[in-house]
This record gives sequence, C-alpha cells and structure tokens, in this order.
Amino acid sequence: MATPSTPTFIYGTAWKEGRTATLVDFALRAGFRAIDTANQRRHYFEAGVGDALAAAYQASIVTRADLFLQTKFTYARGQDHRLPFDPAASLSTQVAQSLASSLEHLHCDYVDSFILHGPSSNYDWTEYDAEVWEAMRRERDAGRTRLIGVSNASLSHLEQMAATGPEGPSFVQNRCYANTGWDREIRRFCRERGIVYQGFSLLTANVDIVHHALVQTLATSLEATPPQIIFAFARAIGILPLTGTSNADHMKQDLASLALTLPPEAVKAIETLVS
Ligand SMILES: NC(=O)c1ccc[n+]([C@@H]2O[C@H](COP(=O)([O-])OP(=O)(O)OC[C@H]3O[C@@H](n4cnc5c(N)ncnc54)[C@H](OP(=O)(O)O)[C@@H]3O)[C@@H](O)[C@H]2O)c1
Repeated sequence: MATPSTPTFIYGTAWKEGRTATLVDFALRAGFRAIDTANQRRHYFEAGVGDALAAAYQASIVTRADLFLQTKFTYARGQDHRLPFDPAASLSTQVAQSLASSLEHLHCDYVDSFILHGPSSNYDWTEYDAEVWEAMRRERDAGRTRLIGVSNASLSHLEQMAATGPEGPSFVQNRCYANTGWDREIRRFCRERGIVYQGFSLLTANVDIVHHALVQTLATSLEATPPQIIFAFARAIGILPLTGTSNADHMKQDLASLALTLPPEAVKAIETLVS
C-alpha cells in the first residue's frame, strides 16, 4: 500500500454534532482533502463524517483515494457511555474494535492515520500505552491504517515512548500555545525524527496573538486576515495546521492561507511573541 502524501491542511470535526455532515460537505467543496475525526462520540460525530463522505463520493466531488482520513482511539476514561468497544475487553481488543467501528462509520476499509488520542497518564508513557501502541501497529500492519500517531503528548511521553518501544509515531497532534514557543521542544523532537507535527487550537489557544498589533499590521500589509497570518506562520515553522471552523467563508480563507508566504523576519517575530 502506498504511503499517502502528507496533507497541507486538516479540517477538524470536533464539537459539530448534528452539523457534522453538512460542515464536512462544505469543507470538501471548499477544497479540504484531509479530515480529522475520532471514535469518541462525546466530542465527535464520526458517523456524520461518514455520511458526508458517502454523499461526496456519490456526487463525484472526491474519491476515497483523494482523501486523507484520520481518526483516533480514545481510552474509556475519555469517553461517555457511547463506547465504540467493550470496556471489559483487553486494551488490544478495544483498539481493534474502535478502529473496526471507525471504518464502518467512515465507509472505508482503511484510514490514512490512526492516532492515540492521549496517553493514559499525564506524566508517563505507561504499560497501557505500550499495549495500545502495539495494537495500533498491528492494525497498521494489517492495512487498516496507513500511519499511526499520538496526540496530547508531552516531551516526556515521547522520550519514554522512544526509549521503550521499537517504533515512534508518524504524527504528533498537539494543542499549540504561543507561550510555549508554539510547542517548540516537541516540534524539535519531531523535526529530528521526521515526525509530522499537527497543531490544533492555533487560533483559540492564542487569541491575544491573533489580536496582537504585529499580526494585525502584517495582515493589513499582506491583504490577509489575522487567522490567515497565523496559519501561514504555523506552516512556516513546520506545523501541519488543523482548523475547526464552522463557517464556509472561513474554510476558503483558511485554505487560501496556503498561498501566503511570510517574510522570514515576520516568522521570527511571531515565534517569539508571548500572550
Ligand atoms: N487531539 C485532540 O485532543 C484535539 C483537541 C481539540 C481539537 N482537535 C482537532 O482539531 C480541530 C480543530 O480544533 P481547533 O481547536 O483548532 O478549532 P476550533 O476550536 O474548532 O475553533 C476554531 C475557531 O477558529 C475560528 N476560525 C477558524 N478560521 C477562522 C477564520 N479564517 N477567521 C476567523 N475565525 C476563524 C472558528 O470560528 P468560525 O467557526 O466562526 O470560523 C472557531 O471559533 C478539531 O475539530 C479536532 O479535529 C483535536
């Protein structure tokens, strides 16, 4: 199976509930080809994503091969009562059941990326995580996902994971705060190992930066919006951005930021802003 090319922008589907299918349809029509979801009904309506995909295939807007589909395994403690697995089963079985259910929701026989939504402990990479990771590797080897990754990971999680396991992630997906240098240490860790860093909440975690005079002035001079400056900045420092917009115009604006190149001194200046 060929490795899919890494996307340039990911449309995120959290917190969209009954509007999920409509918004994914808008996103595909706007030009997004990478979709992030999770088999965690508490925050995502994965079957709604699948409904939009089925309709888009039917309307010849996209084919499965055009898309990068990413979903997640979420431990029971991060779920509500709508579990996609048997909580009494082993973690390995839970991973297999969760992905099987995702493939059903998404009407496909593989996803491009399968992410551990978050390690089991806030501090350590535990034996539970190691078991889950091994099960995710088996799913990958069986062809049900092309790549595997981890989310909400600290540097110590990643270092412990690297020290204890034979294989690291292809992706790290983290909330990205300006006041941590935009996750500088973890981005460095990823860069050194060829791991793609996916950043979410680039706007909502950095409201002061979006409104900062430097960003506003740049936006005016480049005839762009402040969110476009943030997304262009993120790309310039090696972040693969996610957007969770529910607005069709913002979807187009967010994608249009791919054509925006910031002067290196502007990138440096934004990188050192703290809120
Ligand atoms: N792994 C995890 O634990 C985790 C956690 C959180 C999120 N995620 C993923 O990341 C995705 C994105 O989440 P997020 O936190 O970045 O986004 P988000 O919370 O969905 O919010 C994006 C915000 O930015 C605004 N926005 C986007 N583009 C804009 C534009 N061009 N102009 C003005 N406002 C704009 C949106 O407003 P409008 O709707 O009005 O445009 C919205 O308020 C989620 O959907 C999910 O897939 C993963």
